[in-house]
Amino acid sequence: MNDAWSAVEGAETRPLLDLFQADPDRLQRLTVDEAGIRFDFSKTHLDQRLLSAFVALADAQDLAGARERFFSARQINVTEGRAAEHTAERGQGAPDSVARAQGLHARTRALIDAIEAEAFGPVRHILHIGIGGSALGPDFVVDALGRDAARYDVAVVSNVDGAALEEAVEDFDPEATLLVIASKTFTTIETMLNARSALAWMEEAGVADPYGRVIALTASPERAIEFGVDETRILPFSETVGGRYSLWSSIGFPAALALGWSAFEELLEGAAAMDRHFRLAPLDRNAPVLAAFVDRYYANARGAQTRAVFAYDERLRLLPSYLQQLEMESNGKSVRIDGSPVGRATSQITWGGVGTDAQHAVFQLLHQGTHLAPVEFVAAIEPGHALAPEHHRQLLINCFAQGAALMAGKAADDPARSYPGDRPSTTILLDRVDPATLGALIAFYEQRTFANAVLLGINPFDQFGVELGKQMAKALGGEGDLSFDPSTQALIARAFGDQI
Ligand code: F6P
Repeated sequence: MNDAWSAVEGAETRPLLDLFQADPDRLQRLTVDEAGIRFDFSKTHLDQRLLSAFVALADAQDLAGARERFFSARQINVTEGRAAEHTAERGQGAPDSVARAQGLHARTRALIDAIEAEAFGPVRHILHIGIGGSALGPDFVVDALGRDAARYDVAVVSNVDGAALEEAVEDFDPEATLLVIASKTFTTIETMLNARSALAWMEEAGVADPYGRVIALTASPERAIEFGVDETRILPFSETVGGRYSLWSSIGFPAALALGWSAFEELLEGAAAMDRHFRLAPLDRNAPVLAAFVDRYYANARGAQTRAVFAYDERLRLLPSYLQQLEMESNGKSVRIDGSPVGRATSQITWGGVGTDAQHAVFQLLHQGTHLAPVEFVAAIEPGHALAPEHHRQLLINCFAQGAALMAGKAADDPARSYPGDRPSTTILLDRVDPATLGALIAFYEQRTFANAVLLGINPFDQFGVELGKQMAKALGGEGDLSFDPSTQALIARAFGDQI
């Protein structure tokens, strides 16, 4: 395995423009068209030798075996002793798991039918309360697809800062609001506090039975019942579906309700198409695997600490934040599955923004700065607006020009006006932003994250790193007896006096 890593980390590559000249088939070799999406890896330093070295590494790490264990519901999340079964939610997995997921989907669908039939009285607004994986997925999907299509106003509230909830309900009629509480564990402090405050907001407004307007999305139904939610309004999902992978489960409920069940089904089908590609395509023609090779090459052979993702489409503006949790919570680890140190860089720091705005803010560093930051451009051929076609033409032209400029660079007599070039980028071009294509895009990112983890030998499905901060917050709030450093104690005294 170390030899396989040495071959990758020690690979000598040539400048990008030379690679294009040396191989007339390069573009075709490094382009994958799948599920309505073009993945163009040709502006990265992958070449035939590097690709072979990566395929050898993938073999040494048994990527093919890990993929099969994953899809067949083996306990690959070893630190938590369970399988990772989010793909079963979209019909790809062990038959029992798929059947169970389908049963739960039927329950979600029935509840949506009841809401549409006004069994809850009039509903115009959906107030979705959750955080992390219980918020980012539905928020992203509703924002991307619901602009013209949403049948309800949807507000997603995650932050415990009361300003977030206050602002979200400003234009909501409490009598016409459905309160959706999303939490896998049903213990997350921020979510529980926001949920109680939202119920209080309804009560104060005179809503007769606020609890009667609550839907709970959770893998811990017993805690939701304890909280006061009626069993018939709890939409459970399996413990084997991780928070950041839970969009496909009942956590996707606000998207399914706002966009309609058939749109939600198309989202699932698009994701399933990408799953099949990931499962069946040869490694060197496999979009998520090639993307993982690119990630590992720049992180491990070139020392890149970050990866920048720019969505050249307003509908995809939440993609970078969605990816931050998916990638950094999954692969921001230091030890392998067996507990030994990984000994090399794991997850890059994912950051990014929206094009063209980012061009006028952060691209200076990308073109001339001292950091190597591989860039990912994500755009769609069909526009999402009815304004003059020139808007979309300019958007796409700018996107493509940036990738070309990063790669080509430009020499000048004045060093301040020189561009070194040879800076890598990947372009992901969607035919359109519709449910199926978006589902495929998100599944691509999930599978790429998994492929990265397998190459590194780490478990992408736990997240113990977030626990200590939670414990400390509890202790600070008086529920524990941890002691604190002088700086923290002084901050507490300054903010609260002795009132904490
Ligand atoms: O703190 C991290 C985390 O556990 C995420 O993994 C999860 O998506 C989020 O908190 C919310 O957790 P829950 O859905 O249990 O409220």
